[in-house]
Amino acid sequence: MQKVNIILVGFGRVGRAFYELLKEKYDYCRERYGLFLELKGIIRKSGAVLLSGTGKLVTAAESPGGKPSEPSNWVQVFSLEDLLEEFKSGVVVDCTPSDLKTGEPGYSLMRTALEKGWHVVTASKGALVAHPAELAALAREKQVAIKASGATAAALPTLDVGLHSLAGAEILAIEGILNGTTNYILTRMAEGLSFSRALLEASEKGIAEPNPVQDIEGWDTAAKMVIIANRVLGTEIKLSEIKVNGLRGINEQLVARAASLGKTIKLIGRCSRENPDAPWKVEVGLALLDPDHPLAVVSGSNKGLIFYTDCMGYIVLTGGKSDPRGAGAALIKDIISIYWRDF
Ligand SMILES: NC(=O)c1ccc[n+]([C@@H]2O[C@H](COP(=O)([O-])OP(=O)(O)OC[C@H]3O[C@@H](n4cnc5c(N)ncnc54)[C@H](OP(=O)(O)O)[C@@H]3O)[C@@H](O)[C@H]2O)c1
Repeated sequence: MQKVNIILVGFGRVGRAFYELLKEKYDYCRERYGLFLELKGIIRKSGAVLLSGTGKLVTAAESPGGKPSEPSNWVQVFSLEDLLEEFKSGVVVDCTPSDLKTGEPGYSLMRTALEKGWHVVTASKGALVAHPAELAALAREKQVAIKASGATAAALPTLDVGLHSLAGAEILAIEGILNGTTNYILTRMAEGLSFSRALLEASEKGIAEPNPVQDIEGWDTAAKMVIIANRVLGTEIKLSEIKVNGLRGINEQLVARAASLGKTIKLIGRCSRENPDAPWKVEVGLALLDPDHPLAVVSGSNKGLIFYTDCMGYIVLTGGKSDPRGAGAALIKDIISIYWRDF
């Protein structure tokens, strides 16, 4: 049995879903993995809370069973540094917004956590796109993990497969539908809706973020593909170097014309190189897929990824819950994978 201290930063849609799921899964994680996943504190922009609700630092003994209780008394009397100091070791879970240019606020909080020897599990893409090499070097130096399933298609396993399931195989190319909002819009347009009607529907169903610009313009797909490529292939691709075209220019006529040719339009992120000596290249843009392409059947807010390898053939991954609960589940999976070893 092992106790795992968890500090959550960010309490928006994903942070809350993670918090709820942690309560739901507490007993299961103890029984199945021998892990007491103990949430010690939550920090958000507008304040922080300790789970005793008393506003002072508490130990696990004061928080019955270490189980998270309802957060209350949001105060600003302590910082991430205070919590890291108090609880000594564990995991910092980053659910803050993704700023793809500066990497903040994730960059600063990850640095702080890693420097103190804490593992980091993140749903946020910003820091891993803006400062990947520096954070990887710091994690290596401190011998801790940075896990980013939540930032790379969340419930759809991407990094785990590329890093572990395909270990030893040479990956020749990676191709994917990595954004649920744009795939939903394209699916509904293929069913006859206009772009604006499909986007409105995605917002009403809670699929699209309140500001979906990064999704529509392809930057969310690009950021996920850059993180996957850099981790799985060991590259150092920068977001600023890559060609990104989102849904700009898409209209009902184009989608109907693709259908009349028996093809499907998808927003695809691709990482490939012309030959083994050439540099890796990431591109994001609309592609016309033949009906037998494995990603042509990925519909609605689903996502999909293909790894093309030298000796394991090509591996297709599709599905995965594409919402905050799915992202919360990916964060819990990453925590378990840091601490639990199968025999
Ligand atoms: N939504 C999804 O389905 C999904 C799926 C996978 C990954 N993601 C990624 O997960 C992250 C969170 O997404 P979300 O939808 O949960 O965002 P959100 O609803 O906007 O929540 C963001 C949270 O971060 C907090 N925050 C902002 N700046 C902070 C700072 N400097 N220090 C501490 N906390 C700060 C906010 O605090 P306040 O509450 O005080 O404002 C808020 O609680 C994003 O990076 C997103 O790209 C989202």
